[in-house]
Amino acid sequence: MFTNVIVKKPCHSMIDGITTANLGKPNYELALKQHAAYIQALKACGVNVTVLEADEAYPDSCFVEDTAVLTRKFALITNPGAPSRKGEVAAMVPVIKQFYGEDQIEYIKAPGTLEGGDVMMVGDHFYIGISARTNKEGAQQFIAALEKHGMSGEMVPLYTILHLKTGLSYIENKNLLISGEFLENPTFSKFNHIEVAEGEEYGANCIWVNGKVLVPAGYPQTQKAIEALGYEVLVVDTSEYRKVDGGLSCLSLRF
Ligand code: GLY
Repeated sequence: MFTNVIVKKPCHSMIDGITTANLGKPNYELALKQHAAYIQALKACGVNVTVLEADEAYPDSCFVEDTAVLTRKFALITNPGAPSRKGEVAAMVPVIKQFYGEDQIEYIKAPGTLEGGDVMMVGDHFYIGISARTNKEGAQQFIAALEKHGMSGEMVPLYTILHLKTGLSYIENKNLLISGEFLENPTFSKFNHIEVAEGEEYGANCIWVNGKVLVPAGYPQTQKAIEALGYEVLVVDTSEYRKVDGGLSCLSLRF
């Protein structure tokens, strides 16, 4: 169960965030409304939401998930692989220190890079995507930190997608939303696959929060498949974040 969530309001410059989406620029006013609705959905899951103010210096800074990995035993401060995002971490450190003691904070150090979007938590085991943003050195540092705290991790090579959780979401009870390059990956064969339909790939990025699942608006087959498993689904529109390669998980740290 999660008690806390950290989010950060999008800044005006989010319209210039890193993107491969080719969907046009986000509408900032609509992005703000969607962010407020996202916070309401999280609150409906019974968590305390810490809302950080926008930071114009970093267009992608609303995607807080990439700056840290918050486990039940320690916090990992990352070193994002995207050069324009490295500076986002400094603002997150004092926030995380409000929740974790000094001896519970670990850091990814250069040349290691790691972004939280590449990390999928399954209990005390963590899958780490090796991507354009997260390198093997960063993953090794994280695995060493996990082992130091009695937890474990393993690497998963990525081939076509941005982050591990762009194509995979663990929604507890052995249920895994899975798409594209992961479908045939034996690493994930032990899970109950909820295969994301062709054309709904963006819907693979959902978040489980205390028994409910937040699902992006506009992915009806994915929504139905999750509902069929008995989950209460909360639909949240993230259309403006999709335009800058962001999804539901990217917008929060849940712990
Ligand atoms: N625009 C989100 C990212 O590329 O990290």
